[in-house]
Amino acid sequence: MPAPARVRPNRSVLMIASEALPYSKTGGLADVLGALPSALVRLGWQVTLVTPRYRGVAAGRLSERFTLAIGAHAFDVGVYEEAWPDGVRVVLLDVPELFDREALYTIGNVDYPDNPRRFALLSRAALEWAGRRGQRIAVVHAHDWQAGLAPVYLRTSLASHPILGGTPTVFTIHNLAYQGLFEPDWLPRLDLPWDLFSVERMEFWGRISFLKGAINDSTIITTVSRTYAREIQTREFGCGFEGILQRRAGDLVGILNGIDVTSWDPANDPHLPQPFDANDLAGKRAAKVAVLSRYGIEADDETLGRPLIGMISRMVDQKGLDLIAANAAHLPELDASFVILGTGDAGYESMWSRLAQQYPRRVGVKVGFDEGLAHLIEAGADAFMMPSRFEPCGLNQMYSLRYGTVPIVRAVGGLADTVTDWTPRRRSATGIVFEEYAPEALLEALKRAIALYRQPAKWRALQKAGMKLDYSWDRSAREYVKMYDRAIKQAGGMR
Ligand code: ADP
Ligand code: GLC
Repeated sequence: MPAPARVRPNRSVLMIASEALPYSKTGGLADVLGALPSALVRLGWQVTLVTPRYRGVAAGRLSERFTLAIGAHAFDVGVYEEAWPDGVRVVLLDVPELFDREALYTIGNVDYPDNPRRFALLSRAALEWAGRRGQRIAVVHAHDWQAGLAPVYLRTSLASHPILGGTPTVFTIHNLAYQGLFEPDWLPRLDLPWDLFSVERMEFWGRISFLKGAINDSTIITTVSRTYAREIQTREFGCGFEGILQRRAGDLVGILNGIDVTSWDPANDPHLPQPFDANDLAGKRAAKVAVLSRYGIEADDETLGRPLIGMISRMVDQKGLDLIAANAAHLPELDASFVILGTGDAGYESMWSRLAQQYPRRVGVKVGFDEGLAHLIEAGADAFMMPSRFEPCGLNQMYSLRYGTVPIVRAVGGLADTVTDWTPRRRSATGIVFEEYAPEALLEALKRAIALYRQPAKWRALQKAGMKLDYSWDRSAREYVKMYDRAIKQAGGMR
């Protein structure tokens, strides 16, 4: 790893996010916040990551306490800090009445009713912490609706703050489907003025949206792939925000996520029985044996001989679960087996569980969240299925590519930007890509993959082409730095 570049004056970013590895995770947001800060440090930036100290997080040492009033509530905020070995500074906000809960956002598909207050506090306390340092930060980088009020507070109550006032903001949309929509009477309860309840600011069909506030009030908006940046300006993918985003098109940029190539490395992954790389795939077969046995599927000539298709996913419509459900009767007829890991909508969980019961040698399902098993599936599966309806970036297809596991994806968002469809003459092909959001199109793609698997030389070429790709964070981090510089410039130069 190269030595960190010399820290230039005021190249400092305050990252605000509701989840971050290794502290918390429900999806890809956590992976991004677990890796992007370090990549920025390697480029000479000072990075402070602020995130909640949820139940079960033991990290950090108490460095200070302050009281923060939000509406009629006064919160005692404990600041726990820790420094990563590479220099990233992490601030974990300890407010037990808000964050010491069973889940991050939702219990049994019902959101915590005080989510607006919980995540308003995240932004407010992060900014309060920064203001108390007495040193200006160059840029605030907020992620998703949960951190969406940071740019809004900076434009309203903190606009003339001596330290924070005028700080430029970059806001990253990881998923436009989650919009932070609440009743408007939250505005005064979050110390926000009623004039934000207007179409130009936070109002969205009679409610307020944290996401909309952030889109309107940030200096620069990014999202996590180029294709998704285009898609969300259309009616099909815009979730009603297309007009708002079109208005800000000049400040909207797609930056593809990277992957953490240290923790996702088949040559050095503690979750695998045996390491492997593009030159020697023997360890991949060992992982296939291991994953089959974890799912109670006997690893014999028959099960090892047919392709094993993996899926690790939140089980929600976004991920194409309805396409899979429409094909449920056909999957066991294919010359393949499936290993599935995920949680989400009860209907989809039980669909998979029923299939597994009916076809125990064909389908294995684990409902739950299991990081180690996710690594083993990425290694042991031959192909990986991601038939998403929409996909802002998607990380699993990139993990798959690195693990020699051929992705079968729909051509949307980041999936379209990272996987190249196989055709007989395309040397750069890395997977199977289908266009139409239709059950037959998915089935056809699965059949194409299975047929290719039967042609070992071609399959091997696909695997190798994927394993050669470099989706590490450094390139993406350089793009973020460009956006930070642009935001600073747009906000009036180095303050
Ligand atoms: P999203 O953020 O929309 O869920 P991504 O592909 O960006 O999709 O990221 C999902 C991340 O969460 C990946 O790291 C994936 O491996 C992980 N993940 C999802 N479901 C599970 C699960 N049940 N167990 C372990 N990891 C999971
Ligand atoms: C979101 C998206 C996913 C993306 C992740 C990280 O959860 O659904 O596509 O990879 O954020 O940016």
